[in-house]
Amino acid sequence: MTQTQTQESPALPRAGRNVGKPIDRVDGKAKTTGAARFSAEYPYPGLAHAALVHATVGRGRIAGIDVTAAAAVPGVLTVITHLNAPPMKPPPPVSLLNLESLASATTVNYLNTDEVHWHGQPVGVVVAATLDAAVEAAALVRVSYEELPARVDFAAAEGRAKPQKGNALQPGESRKGDAEAALAAAPVSVDLRYTTPPHNHNALEPHATTAAWDGDRLTVHEGAQNIAWVRGHLAHKFGVPAQNVRVISPYVGGAFGGKTMIWPGTILAVLAARVTGRPVRLALTREGVYRTVGGRTPSIQRVALGANEDGRLTSLIHTSITRVGAVGGGPEQVTSQSRHLYDAENIFVQQNLVKLDLLSNTVMRAPGESIGTYALETAVDELASKLGMDPIELRMRNEPERNPLDGKRFAHRMLREAYARGAERFGWADRTPEPGSMRDGRWLIGMGVASAYHPSWQFAANVTVRLSADGTVVVRCGFHEMGMGGATAHAQITADALGVPFEAVRVEYGDSDLPTGPGAGGSGQTASVAASLLTACDKLKRSVLALARRSSGSPLRGVRPSGVEARDGGLYQAGAAGRGEAYAAILARAGRTSVEAQVGSETRMGALAGQVRFMSKLMLDRRRWVKAACGAQFCEVRVDPDTGEVRVSRWVGVFDVGTVINAKTAASQLRGGIVMGIGMALSEATLVDPRHGRIMNPSLAEYHVPVHADIPPIDVSWLNEPDPTMPLGLIGVGEVSITGAAAAIANAVHHATGRRVRDLPITLDALM
Ligand code: MOS
Repeated sequence: MTQTQTQESPALPRAGRNVGKPIDRVDGKAKTTGAARFSAEYPYPGLAHAALVHATVGRGRIAGIDVTAAAAVPGVLTVITHLNAPPMKPPPPVSLLNLESLASATTVNYLNTDEVHWHGQPVGVVVAATLDAAVEAAALVRVSYEELPARVDFAAAEGRAKPQKGNALQPGESRKGDAEAALAAAPVSVDLRYTTPPHNHNALEPHATTAAWDGDRLTVHEGAQNIAWVRGHLAHKFGVPAQNVRVISPYVGGAFGGKTMIWPGTILAVLAARVTGRPVRLALTREGVYRTVGGRTPSIQRVALGANEDGRLTSLIHTSITRVGAVGGGPEQVTSQSRHLYDAENIFVQQNLVKLDLLSNTVMRAPGESIGTYALETAVDELASKLGMDPIELRMRNEPERNPLDGKRFAHRMLREAYARGAERFGWADRTPEPGSMRDGRWLIGMGVASAYHPSWQFAANVTVRLSADGTVVVRCGFHEMGMGGATAHAQITADALGVPFEAVRVEYGDSDLPTGPGAGGSGQTASVAASLLTACDKLKRSVLALARRSSGSPLRGVRPSGVEARDGGLYQAGAAGRGEAYAAILARAGRTSVEAQVGSETRMGALAGQVRFMSKLMLDRRRWVKAACGAQFCEVRVDPDTGEVRVSRWVGVFDVGTVINAKTAASQLRGGIVMGIGMALSEATLVDPRHGRIMNPSLAEYHVPVHADIPPIDVSWLNEPDPTMPLGLIGVGEVSITGAAAAIANAVHHATGRRVRDLPITLDALM
């Protein structure tokens, strides 16, 4: 593993000892020894098991259901269908003032309707004393349908695409000048069409829910990316106050957006528990995840670039068509990077949508930019070929000083530095530009580059920090740990902010009884929690100092907050020789067992006010700055000239992600994104039957994610320059590295073979 040494950054707490270090994850041991308990592993006395019955038509009405055979299976407790399910409230209407409403994966009121909206929609749930009985019985439920015509074929729907309506944060369309006219007049141009397939979520841990009612109180164990949304949504559906619902989610076996929305399995597990009066576990099979959890949209994209002979872009056009479900899903920001990456004189970007009778699409690692950068960054490479110019040189010639569309300032932008360092680490200078000119024995060698780009996000986060008289600190925040190392990062930040050892800090997370945290999404969770955490630590230090200042016995008596620093487990006057005292001594003298500081409010009005405040600040911020992470991806492939087999043999990624909190977990995040990008480029594709919308490959045997043998050593590094507009200078690391990855591979494949593949994945047949 290689990574750049971390440097001391000006935005860090002065006595920082932990931020930046490659500290092992605090949850690592529990996860690797099997001690960690996931949501399908909670034992309850009398636990029953549930299994879903899926619709086998793309659209229609249920004409009849015969549960006789299913109900006769020994151990079956009940078969719940729309004929006998108690009423639930329909999903809440979407509103920005009710953030939980954004969590509705679909508009369907499952088992409260006879309508079928997608092939695979749950039309029944079997509850049994054993898992085997539930699964066996679910297969015996006979459902007949009045089938209705279903629109499921994305390729055939192209002509029906309509421009997406934008909003303040995410425009559907942007333009500068007349890009079409400039394209027509350009001395050199490309005008290209790219297509990408749907992708499905394949976290290691399939979705699972364990639900238990106690009167009108509900406990749910659920691997989730937004426990506050799960709580709010279930409270709404089942008509109980939100405080009656507790969502417990300390361990999540991977999640890349698929555990953000509320999917039917969660709701039906809770329903099953309510109907049977027993705790119920519903663990989806891998196929169940494909049938009931949305994935990434397919896309049709046009990228057209016009340039002068010197490579200066005169025109940049990027338009996309993606799909949403008739019952839900949202636009993915396929063109977002094209608004910011190149200083073209004329720009036109536009996103278009088609609605199909399929399960809603949903967020999946860098929704939008992951596939958008594939098209844009391949097209830039194609233009470089046409110009006879080095693709890095072409990019640097068009690197903007300010946001190309409107002249807004970049909060932070170090793409030049990323390319310079990447080229050196990768050995780009050794590349001979002619396609097919590099060989190693029989293997054709190709080298490609592409830019990575992902906007940075921040959300509201409530936290409390409590310092005890024994010098230990407890941070409480209902954030999410899907394996990225949040708990570790926040212990590092807290330790430095309070000047205590890392080991003295315990971070509590993954429980809706904790102060409401941000969702784990948009690569924004760490920055969001960090912002509130720093404020809370500051408040805490002031409270402790106030105790000391009042005391005649304290060396801090009368000292102002600005003259005090936190270090060595206490507060000291600034300067190495500054006098002060340990927290323990201050608290003991004041007769206090602990001091606590809080950020955010848990009351309904307080939370709403906080949300409004936060959103206004975010909008203001966005008016002033363009905020994002970026990076340079370098890839080497080897292509077998006879079989078309593509192996990725080397990778260098250099990222501009601001301050890195933990060098080990950040490196893993960045590597993980590249691995997912390799899957996107070479193997991943969901196959949808164009007749009725059935997903035909709902298993890891037929939907190919990369395995270890597909992945070379991945050299990731970062520039570690803080973003002055972000808390601690940190930008998220979760998503940026999947962007640009597929383009780097496609460009390397072209360099190796002279073949341009404009349709993902790049399988052997495309190169034969
Ligand atoms: Mo994500 S798609 O921000 O989990």
